[in-house]
Amino acid sequence: MKNIGVLISGGGTNLQALIDKQGSVLKSGRIVCVCSNSSTAYGLKRAENAGIPTKVIRKNADCGGDMDEFNRQVCAYMKEMKVDVIVLAGFLAVLGGELLDEYTDRIVNIHPSLIPSFCGDGFYGLKVHEEALKYGVKVTGATAHLVNEITDGGKILLQKAVEIQEGDTPEILQKRVMEEAEWIILPEAVELVCKSV
Ligand code: GAR
Repeated sequence: MKNIGVLISGGGTNLQALIDKQGSVLKSGRIVCVCSNSSTAYGLKRAENAGIPTKVIRKNADCGGDMDEFNRQVCAYMKEMKVDVIVLAGFLAVLGGELLDEYTDRIVNIHPSLIPSFCGDGFYGLKVHEEALKYGVKVTGATAHLVNEITDGGKILLQKAVEIQEGDTPEILQKRVMEEAEWIILPEAVELVCKSV
């Protein structure tokens, strides 16, 4: 059984999917801690409700605005909690340095598009869906992938397509991509990594 640490920034619906799939889809790991870079992230409440330890580490307030220090502190917490596999579940900061070296091929991210479309620096959250609608693609989806030093550039683990419908707004599309793709493939991808490391 591998120890999973989940990093979040917001609502935490992907964290909830992981919590709900523990013991069924997610058999080879269990969530031992949740770390947020925002003190107001609702995902913290979801973790508390599930009895999972939480920690807030903010780049500005706790790390003097220094990204290297932020990475050091997150890495130290992951090690303290004996984390084997890290999951970025709606974590809207780019990781680097020590954390990537320490956890090479053991960090999974969920991205709300079919990579290599609508990804890379600046493409996160609702913005991804705004751009997909603006471009006029007929199919989008989600990608679970390993994290390396290139934003959204690591090895793809799983992808799932979602059709765009007449009248979609970024908000409607975001919800459908979550329901039909993200919440399904993220627990599956985390299971694959837990089983293989
Ligand atoms: C999700 O749609 C996730 O794919 C996206 O942020 C949302 C977080 O929702 N992540 C990215 O855009 C990363 N580049 P959640 O907090 O409810 O899981």
